[in-house]
This record gives sequence, structure tokens and C-alpha cells, in this order.
Amino acid sequence: MRPTTPASPDRWKELLDQLEHKYQASGQDLNSYLEGLLYTEYLNYWDYVQLDTLLTLQVPRTAFPDEEIFIMYHQITELYFKLILKEIKQLSAGEQTTANWEKRISRINRYMEALIKSFDVMVDGMDPEEFMKFRMALLPASGFQSVQFRIIELLSTKLTQLSNDPDKDWTGATVEDLVDQIYWQAGATELSSGKQTLTLKRFAEKYGRQMRTTASDYQDTNLATLLGRLQETDQLTDNLRVMLRTFDASFNINWRLMHFKSAVRYLQKEPEVIAATGGTNWQKYLPPRFQNRTFFPELWTSEERANWGRAWFEEVLAGVA
Ligand code: HEM
Repeated sequence: MRPTTPASPDRWKELLDQLEHKYQASGQDLNSYLEGLLYTEYLNYWDYVQLDTLLTLQVPRTAFPDEEIFIMYHQITELYFKLILKEIKQLSAGEQTTANWEKRISRINRYMEALIKSFDVMVDGMDPEEFMKFRMALLPASGFQSVQFRIIELLSTKLTQLSNDPDKDWTGATVEDLVDQIYWQAGATELSSGKQTLTLKRFAEKYGRQMRTTASDYQDTNLATLLGRLQETDQLTDNLRVMLRTFDASFNINWRLMHFKSAVRYLQKEPEVIAATGGTNWQKYLPPRFQNRTFFPELWTSEERANWGRAWFEEVLAGVA
């Protein structure tokens, strides 16, 4: 990085005054810090991005080379989820203006677009035979257990909207009641017994408490609730409406569809390969058309809601199954 202003005695003095002010404010002696600068090492790229550590985080469980693709793509996705959560949290706690909403939602949409476009790495980028083998060595782990995915949902919409019956009158229901109704708890169900899978049980053990606390913390500051207030003050512009619809469709239709496409690609071929998911009801559960999930229902017409995920769904089944 190069200095932006050419050095001049006046500029030097200005900088020293600012530094003096900064260090004095915390009772520190500027001279000592300036002397320290003489010995401080230059920052290196590899230290800054913690490259060496980052590259040690891929630890396959089998010897199949493609397993690393699977691990890394999940890690990449989790980092994008982290970026999305960072924007949602800043928006939730920040200025409730159209400009701030547009800035944050457009960033989120950019991240979602990258995720949706790159999902082909999963759909076509791995050897199916290798996949079927290393997948068996990973049971009962599943992306289903991605806590960041669940937190994005909790921070984006109302708890009633995450239930399997958003139109029901939920008056009087507590946060606890509503968390117990969240849709994905019916997701990981064993086809053979109808019971909760170990995948789900383990997730609930690790994150159950965090789910409840987060749900409670964001009851009044989730995006859908804040959007209601934005609408009341006439700040929902056409542009922002389009952006929010894009976010909703990206998360609840297009990403889910690309993801479903990967499940169809690898898991739908033989009945016995159902075992590779721990024998779950994923065919009934994963398609966005069946999930019919939306963060911002008031931004869609009833016709759009009736056809939720339909065109894409049919395209996927026609092309891949
Ligand atoms: C070849 C790639 C993939 C396949 C075949 C696959 C398969 C599945 C299946 C079958 C399920 C249903 C639950 C279960 O049976 O375990 C599921 C759920 C899920 N997976 Fe994946 N997955 C893949 C990649 C990914 C990636 C890269 C992510 C990114 C984090 C991910 C995140 C999720 C999430 C969040 C769920 C829960 C979705 C919901 O509740 O609606 N998956 N996956």
C-alpha cells in the first residue's frame, strides 16, 4: 500500500498532532509507540489472511481426492454465509433508511449470486462414484447441520414464517412454541421409521439453545419485522422491493434448487443409495416447491406464491433425473 498524500512538513506535523491526540486520549506515550515502529515487521499477505492456517483446514476422512472438493466447497459456502450474516446483523442494528437497506441487501444478493452460480462445482464437479463412496464415510454429518444457514433464516424472517403453517393464527404462541414448530425439524426424518435422524438429534444437542436465544433476540429485529416498519414509513421503494424479492428468491428458491439438483444428481439413481443420506425423506423435503418457504410473503402476489419454485423444479427434474 502506498501513501495517498505526498509527505510535506505540514502534513508530518498534522499527522503527529493527530497521533499525539489519539495516544494521549488513552494515556499512552506516543514516543514509545513511534520507537516501536522502528522494530515492527512489515505485514505480509500470508500472515494477514492467515493462509497457512486456512490451508490446513481441509481434512478428508477418506483417500478419495474429490472429497477435498466437497470439504472446500462447504467451507467456501460457510464463509459466504458469514458475509451474509454480517450484513443482516449490521442492517438489523443499523440505520433504518432506504439507502442503508439497499446497500446491505445488494451486498447479500451479490453473495447469493456467487453461491448459486458456483453450485455447479457440486452438481458436475465431482466424480459420482467417488462421491457415493466418501459420502458413506461421512454419515451422519450433513449440510443440514449448517447452523449459519439456520441463523440466516432466523434473522431474515418472522418465526411464524418458518413454521410449516405460516397462515395459522399464532396469537399467544411463545418463542419456545414457535421454535419447536420450525419447518426443518420435520426435514431430517428417517423414511423407514418416521423418526428424527441422528443428524437432527446431534444438531439439536449442539445448537438447540443457541437457536432459542437467537430467535428470541431477533423477534423484533428480524428483517421481515423491520421491513414492516419501513413500509409503514413509506420507505420501501420499487428498487428495494426488487432487491428484497431477489434475496428471498435466491435463498428460498434458486439456492435450494441448485442444492436439490446436486442431491438428484448423486442420490436419486438407485433406491439403495438412499442410504447415503442416512435414509432421509430428502426427495419430499428439499424441493423449494414443497417447502414453499418465503421470508417476505407480502412482497409476492398470490399467483407467484402458488407457483413458488415450480418452473425451476420441473426444469431440474427434466434435465437431471
Ligand atoms: C453433492 C453435494 C450435496 C448433496 C448430495 C447434498 C445432499 C443433501 C441432502 C440429501 C439433504 C437432506 C438432509 C439429509 O438427508 O442429510 C441436505 C440438506 C442440506 N444441505 Fe446439502 N448436499 C450437498 C451439498 C451441500 C452444500 C455445499 C451445502 C452448503 C452448506 C449444503 C447445505 C445443506 C443444507 C443447509 C441443508 C438443509 C436444507 C433445508 O433444511 O432446507 N449441502 N443436503
